[in-house]
Amino acid sequence: MPKFSLSTKVGYFPGPDRTEHSLSPDRLHAAVEQAVRDLGREPDLVFLHNPEHSLQEAAPYSRDILAQACAALNAAAAKGLCGAWGVASWDPSPLPSLIDATVPKPSVLMVRAGLLVGTRTLDATEALAEAWGLEEGTVWGMSPFGGSTRAPIWEKSDPRVFLEGGNGFSRIQAAFRAAFHLPQVSTIAVGTDEPTHLGELLGALAGKVDERAIREYRSLLRDRLRSQPV
Ligand SMILES: NC(=O)c1ccc[n+]([C@@H]2O[C@H](COP(=O)([O-])OP(=O)(O)OC[C@H]3O[C@@H](n4cnc5c(N)ncnc54)[C@H](OP(=O)(O)O)[C@@H]3O)[C@@H](O)[C@H]2O)c1
Repeated sequence: MPKFSLSTKVGYFPGPDRTEHSLSPDRLHAAVEQAVRDLGREPDLVFLHNPEHSLQEAAPYSRDILAQACAALNAAAAKGLCGAWGVASWDPSPLPSLIDATVPKPSVLMVRAGLLVGTRTLDATEALAEAWGLEEGTVWGMSPFGGSTRAPIWEKSDPRVFLEGGNGFSRIQAAFRAAFHLPQVSTIAVGTDEPTHLGELLGALAGKVDERAIREYRSLLRDRLRSQPV
């Protein structure tokens, strides 16, 4: 454990019937304390899990509720319960317009990354990072395969077109490497139960992404959105 940097999330609370989302500052604080007990040490980073979900339940979207939740995590970090705090968002679209000086800035923003992410989410991520004034290296990606590498899309497509000299890599490696540019992220949270899979993904980091291909892909995504009936 001492060799690892540990991140976890708070903001959803498994119950007997359903998982409940909450941005209540008291519940968030208690959840960080619980994480410390469960992990046996203070995590390096604690994410607020999908705040857009809880904000939607308390519609209309409330800047104050978001600000108080962020302030609770800020306070937990200041108290030494975690090294830093962040926001993880599956759908950041409603968030950029809520950000002003009253909403504390996270150390890290984590969003969906990769070839399955639509143009609205990519644009919203960039708008949110700008609204908070996040520095380079503080946006992370998650779920680069959308939860499964067994989905038919990974058979049908060949992401090696996004790598320079891509033939030396597997399709999964290429999809993982391209995910660092869709949107631009410095770190990716990926799921695996297989050490060999983790090794394969680490090997992908040697690949050089063709940024022209990424720009062309973003432009195709925008064209596709524009051509869809409203
Ligand atoms: N905020 C949210 O709502 C939300 C939702 C989902 C995920 N997340 C975050 O994103 C992280 C990752 O997401 P995820 O685990 O759902 O999806 P993911 O990382 O997109 O995909 C995980 C799948 O990829 C497979 N895989 C990984 N490396 C592989 C390789 N080299 N070759 C073949 N298959 C490979 C894994 O299978 P094996 O186990 O067989 O390797 C696993 O089934 C989570 O830990 C979480 O932090 C957040």
